[in-house]
Amino acid sequence: AVTRKPIIAGNWKMNLNHFEAILLVRKLAANLTAEHLAAVETVVLPPFTDLRSVEGAIKDDKLNIGYGAQDISKFASGAYTGEISGSMIAKLGATYVVVGHSERREYHAEDDATVNAKNKAAFEAGLTPIFCVGEGLAIREAGNQVEHVLAQIDAGLDGLKTEQLKQIVIAYEPVWAIGTGKTATPEDAQEVCGAIRGRLTEKFGTEVSDVVRIQYGGSVKANNIAQIMAKPDVDGALVGGAALDAEGFAAIVRFP
Ligand code: G3P
Repeated sequence: AVTRKPIIAGNWKMNLNHFEAILLVRKLAANLTAEHLAAVETVVLPPFTDLRSVEGAIKDDKLNIGYGAQDISKFASGAYTGEISGSMIAKLGATYVVVGHSERREYHAEDDATVNAKNKAAFEAGLTPIFCVGEGLAIREAGNQVEHVLAQIDAGLDGLKTEQLKQIVIAYEPVWAIGTGKTATPEDAQEVCGAIRGRLTEKFGTEVSDVVRIQYGGSVKANNIAQIMAKPDVDGALVGGAALDAEGFAAIVRFP
């Protein structure tokens, strides 16, 4: 049987200043034992401006918590005012970066080509993308969620090498479930996560599809995580709102 280590990541979005960031990380660690952190890969995704503080808090206390950024420039360096490069993120000790979150797609007009370029930029800088896909409500109501998500998968992964594909984390976040309190049912999550894994097998073989971790995201809470994680193709969660509360997020990580 294939075993994939669960990965639970907290996407803080545009919340918390650098003081609050340190407090949250310390409180999170206080609510988790070494065993919890060994069983579930635990990651926080603060705003860029908090990354240095989070790095300090994690390294000073030698915490077994990973961290990463919420976005990355598709460019490597240069005259791109306001952009943050992959190498800048990596230099802060971060190992992950969220790519193609639906809020970036919606409010910053990121299309599939941009998302693909950002996945490549992440690997170029030695970062692991948490590559997000997901359908909006209209697509779900029309029953086209699988087709829509698989098109995002095809475009987002285009041109990546096998070694990169094996490392990537995919987050399935149905847009209608984000921040709405409306969680997808475990069956909804499994349908799409299973289809994603099927596509990975079809295109890249089980060498890739057996090891890629697929997260579900959208109103994940301590009281629904276990049912979602019980599904065979769900290997973790990308948590928004509930990740801003240290105790709540710790309770999600303690799901097993
Ligand atoms: O990236 C996580 C996210 O979009 C889900 O947000 O607040 O519904 O957990 P939330």
